[in-house]
Amino acid sequence: MNAPDTKSPLLRVRGIAKRYGERVALHDASFDLWPGEVLAVVGESGSGKSTLLNAIAARDKPDAGSVEFQVRGGGLQEVFTMTEAQQRMLARTDWGFVHQNPADGLRMDVSAGANVGERLMGLGERHYGRLRATAAEWLGRVEIDPARIDDAPRTFSGGMRQRLQIARNLVTQPRLVFMDEPTSGLDVSVQARLLDLLRQLTRQMQLAAIVVTHDLAVARLLAHRMLVMQQGRVVEAGLTDQVLDDPQHAYTQLLVSSVLQP
Ligand SMILES: Nc1ncnc2c1ncn2[C@@H]1O[C@H](COP(=O)(O)OP(=O)(O)OP(=O)(O)O)[C@@H](O)[C@H]1O
Ligand SMILES: [Mg+2]
Repeated sequence: MNAPDTKSPLLRVRGIAKRYGERVALHDASFDLWPGEVLAVVGESGSGKSTLLNAIAARDKPDAGSVEFQVRGGGLQEVFTMTEAQQRMLARTDWGFVHQNPADGLRMDVSAGANVGERLMGLGERHYGRLRATAAEWLGRVEIDPARIDDAPRTFSGGMRQRLQIARNLVTQPRLVFMDEPTSGLDVSVQARLLDLLRQLTRQMQLAAIVVTHDLAVARLLAHRMLVMQQGRVVEAGLTDQVLDDPQHAYTQLLVSSVLQP
């Protein structure tokens, strides 16, 4: 395998646009993401955050624009021109996707261990003992008692389900994880613990992530940089501390002054 190309970004997004019928949900979004970097996408409800995330993650094809990903050993490759099999492989290995609602990202009726082991099996691991040991290890890493390995996520609390979804995504050591409001379905104390865990894991694993959130505290805690969206446009982009401490765009100023905070 070639050495990673550290001179080019992990992800290069250019001119992504999406409309639903007459409504333009997203205008011309462009940015780069570097290896190990966490980017927050913030903005009010309906501003196009999920539309952007789903387009980049090739879950919902945009009308225009390109997304290039630095494939292991292969340099930057256009995601939308890959075959479906290549896209699926990427989604199962080097990418992760954490849904707001854990039920959308888990198989609720199969065991926690099988939920974690599934992506490893997708990579060809068939050894039961190793699968089980890795699953148990990952349950521990996300602070779920490994004794619950045979229980289905249906029997887990909301916070446990979300942590299990994270373990399921991270077990293949992806290089990029997409997260849509990963903490917003949970109550405040559970949110704080999950955020702490996400922060630890992204740092330990040098994981790049794009985190959609309407909560500026989440951006502050997790993200190196942020994009601010309003009505389908990126209106401000920059280092998290700079944007939050010295917002330039009137809409960001409004957000930061907490007028629009829930
Ligand atoms: N499947 C769809 N069909 C039609 N319109 C859609 C669809 N999905 C999103 N939209 C529209 O696109 C715009 C952006 O929606 P999007 O879901 O990206 O917002 P968001 O920033 O993620 O909001 P929220 O914080 O509420 O999740 C909205 O006007 C929404 O009504
Ligand atoms: Mg959304």
